[in-house]
Amino acid sequence: MTKQLHLGAFMRPVGIHTAWWRYPGAYPDANFNLKHLISFIQTLERGRFDAFFMADHLAVLNMPMAALRRSGTATSFEPMTLLSALSMVTERIGLIATGSTTFDEPYHVARRFASLDHISNGRSGWNIVTTSNPDAALNFGMTEHVEHDERYRRAREFYDVVTGLWDSWADDAWLRDPKSGLFFDPERLHVLDHKGEQFSVRGPLNIRRPVQGWPVIVQAGASEAGRQFAAETSEAIFASARTIEDGRRFYADMKSRMKALGRSADHMKILPGALVIVAPTRAEAKEKQALLDSLVHPDSSLPNLSMRLGVDASGFDLDGPLPEIPQTNASQSGRDTLVALARRDNLTVRQLAQMVGGYGGLQMVGTPGEIADTMQEWLETDASDGFNIMFHTVPAGLDDFVNMVVPELQRRGLFRREYEGTTLRDHLGLPRPENRFFPTARQDAEAAE
Ligand SMILES: Cc1cc2nc3c(=O)[nH]c(=O)nc-3n(C[C@H](O)[C@H](O)[C@H](O)COP(=O)(O)O)c2cc1C
Repeated sequence: MTKQLHLGAFMRPVGIHTAWWRYPGAYPDANFNLKHLISFIQTLERGRFDAFFMADHLAVLNMPMAALRRSGTATSFEPMTLLSALSMVTERIGLIATGSTTFDEPYHVARRFASLDHISNGRSGWNIVTTSNPDAALNFGMTEHVEHDERYRRAREFYDVVTGLWDSWADDAWLRDPKSGLFFDPERLHVLDHKGEQFSVRGPLNIRRPVQGWPVIVQAGASEAGRQFAAETSEAIFASARTIEDGRRFYADMKSRMKALGRSADHMKILPGALVIVAPTRAEAKEKQALLDSLVHPDSSLPNLSMRLGVDASGFDLDGPLPEIPQTNASQSGRDTLVALARRDNLTVRQLAQMVGGYGGLQMVGTPGEIADTMQEWLETDASDGFNIMFHTVPAGLDDFVNMVVPELQRRGLFRREYEGTTLRDHLGLPRPENRFFPTARQDAEAAE
């Protein structure tokens, strides 16, 4: 079978472009309107998407107020609460949420994702982030953000504890035998007793093993520390490549890191974020893009650039080239991508700021056929295994994608017409992890009950 495309929908916020909410016909209150969110996820399920993704930031976005007050990306629902609600009105689509390893505790995270996995019958995924927004520290009793590599060291141990907790119970631990009066078999229960550098967690988890064994492990970091952590642990990556060449380099790097670790390269799906603007003709799609960008106020562009670079850009010469940008403690890969782009395309600070003020990542603009061509090229030349789609506005951008792009991808045999399985692991073609403490447990014991 030809390599298949996997599609996630980036839905927190519902539009990544800062001006999505000003676009004609937009639902400006959509981030907090459950009725709208239900209709979005049902449309995505009709479009056979692999997953609905809720990012999370634990602070209002760290933009200066002049820009923040104009941005439709400032606030959204807490992801696990929303996904629990959305699991009740959907049957197949995966439900991925961000969970922070810097500002949360492994026992909390293990419980929440295990619960969502049961509630949704095996559809949950955990996007492990170390949290990029430094303002989050101020909401958790700290005066400054934890240093970058230290965040990743904590994340590694955090992951070991969470996955260890998910393995607390063998799948066949549950006797529930009215005759003997035994509810479970203590021999099939493992007490983790973790004592590490960062965490001391006795366990066991007070929740049975998730339906998927473990919720799907996702990551979005791209620094050296982030890549290595992802190669060791992740099953999907939300990548941030802006060009197909960058995509290929990242893809090859990640898959070769996995092979060096003895992991199968198929067991990680690499999904770059892509803002898609589609219309029946190329001219109409370009018009939509121009209209959207024209709605970005100048107040938004420079502060946005500062945030993305991790330095104050307000004193830069607007019509000069981007000066040298030092390393900071903020997101490294985001900064590197922008600097490389400015150098490559000889952009002035003004040009870069205007672009970033709306959305600075990968965009695909064109007809359904052109969008499908681009996606197919990324897929077939190993630049990605699919995409995490961002919509230029809601509901129109989301409807356009499902009504125009999905049928074209299906016609080409690149994307499913029906879900074949029921879990997020099924959709992504990922195996159910064996329980490390009960390797001989009958994994299907519960399913056979
Ligand atoms: C598609 C995508 C989604 C992300 N979602 C989150 C998120 O929900 N919360 C967060 O703190 N960071 C999020 N990030 C940022 C990453 O977790 C990470 O901090 C960033 O890519 C920089 O990582 P690095 O420091 O390893 O380069 C996301 C990044 C991408 C590309």
